[in-house]
Amino acid sequence: MKAVDLYHFSGTGNTLLIVQSMARTFLDRGVAVRLHPIETTDSFRIAISDTLGLAFPVAVQSTYPFVWRFINALPKGEGKPAFLVDTLAGYSGGIVRPLRDLLLRKGYVPLGEKEIIMPNNLSKTPASETANASIIRKGMDQAIAFAAALATNRTEWKTGFLTEYGMLFMYLLAIGMMSKPVQHLLSKAVFLNIDAKRCARCHLCVSLCPVGNIRLPDGKRDSVPKIGNTCQLCMRCVAYCPSSAIHFGRWNRGGERYHAVSLSEIQRYYRNDIE
Ligand SMILES: Cc1cc2nc3c(=O)[nH]c(=O)nc-3n(C[C@H](O)[C@H](O)[C@H](O)COP(=O)(O)O)c2cc1C
Repeated sequence: MKAVDLYHFSGTGNTLLIVQSMARTFLDRGVAVRLHPIETTDSFRIAISDTLGLAFPVAVQSTYPFVWRFINALPKGEGKPAFLVDTLAGYSGGIVRPLRDLLLRKGYVPLGEKEIIMPNNLSKTPASETANASIIRKGMDQAIAFAAALATNRTEWKTGFLTEYGMLFMYLLAIGMMSKPVQHLLSKAVFLNIDAKRCARCHLCVSLCPVGNIRLPDGKRDSVPKIGNTCQLCMRCVAYCPSSAIHFGRWNRGGERYHAVSLSEIQRYYRNDIE
């Protein structure tokens, strides 16, 4: 492997930590790395010189619809190798197999996949820092080992019995998540709210939303932002709101929120403009 174009998304920083660990490992082994944020990459400008890497969080046994849309828009693989790393709190039903099939259909050669357990960013109250620190340390160790194995061609894209047959339901669920009607239903059924009393009108959430779903209703700087109906529940606005004003239904109102990296680190990697 000579070079990796690693396209990545992270809502609350878990996946970003994994991406950073892998990038350092690749560089140490003489593999060039170009990092591209999925959320601001124009699909017409996706270019893979040598190896394609994909990194994203698991969401509802699949991943976010805009990530799937990005993957669907990938150019033809023409025999280039591709790998996947995803982060999750415990279990992703069927994402590994459908993604492999999709990449194969596009003409990529599936090189290897790794699912890495990281802290749950959907929990009502974050676990203790010590517990999270130990999960994160183990996750980063796995990321380093995976990148080292990729660099020396020692990986495989596993398709054991369970992923082949036993996970049919999860496979269908993952496929279903990509479909337009399901995306529409999800956006109507599950949504975030902004508590106007808590909101400091800093409008950070407007610039953090990866899909431009948080806006100022009348463009006035002193307005409480409004959340539209294309929320993908990545939790970034919830995690980084300085006054904990954004909450998920009646759940996690106020209080402490989980995020794995600082706000400035998220802003450094995920600028809200086109690449
Ligand atoms: C809406 C949502 C759905 C999730 N669904 C799953 C899931 O199905 N399985 C799982 O193991 N973790 C699930 N998680 C947890 C995340 O995958 C996990 O915390 C991930 O590392 C977050 O990555 P990030 O910080 O890069 O956004 C979910 C999180 C969110 C916000």
